[in-house]
Amino acid sequence: MFVYRFYSMNPQSNTSDSGFDPRGHGFSLWFTGLSGAGKSTIAEAVTSQLRERGHRVEVLDGDEVREHLSRGLTFSKEDRDINVRRIGWIASVLARNGVVAITAAISPYRATRNEVRAMHDGAAPPNATQAAFIEIHIATPLEVCEDRDVKGLYAKARSGEIPEFTGISDPYEAPEKCEITIPTQNQSIEESAAMVLAYLDEHGLSQAL
Ligand code: ADX
Repeated sequence: MFVYRFYSMNPQSNTSDSGFDPRGHGFSLWFTGLSGAGKSTIAEAVTSQLRERGHRVEVLDGDEVREHLSRGLTFSKEDRDINVRRIGWIASVLARNGVVAITAAISPYRATRNEVRAMHDGAAPPNATQAAFIEIHIATPLEVCEDRDVKGLYAKARSGEIPEFTGISDPYEAPEKCEITIPTQNQSIEESAAMVLAYLDEHGLSQAL
């Protein structure tokens, strides 16, 4: 299968041998988790803190992407994979141009998430001890998401009104190994955002250069 490489799209750019342009030092924060897990909410909190630290940040939220970039796609495995690859490609383009790309799509399939991880291959921001793709599992248990049912979709999924609903009638493959796992049910939004910031601090990424 053809996989886009992080720096493969612009052979004319001023990149080093490794393909990394030192003028751009963005990275992607890839939130994954069930519907209603809190991905967008935590992403928002992280976004404002990174902006305060001088980063340029762009959020690619699952619901918004489906409204614009992926309008018309269904929730079949094939269409979810297309959606996730589109988000991954845009995130990698933003990241290589110095932006912190924050994504918040369910992205339920492990293999597809690994594909988008590979799109970011070959680049680590200068001074960072971490590559440009950081996968963050918002590990809110299904029972908690279903109990909250903020959008009323779980009830519709249970009644069969919505087919192929992630966690109910469609799979969610939790990461086996990812950079950050956030147990949201035991902590506040601020504490969850702080876990992300602490990780970025540890790896030299929290402050814009
Ligand atoms: S993904 O699987 O392709 O990554 P994405 O994050 O874009 O999903 O969209 C998920 C959002 O679409 C959910 O938060 C929910 O609001 C809505 N949605 C509608 N139908 C479904 C479904 N069958 N499965 C999951 N989410 C759905």
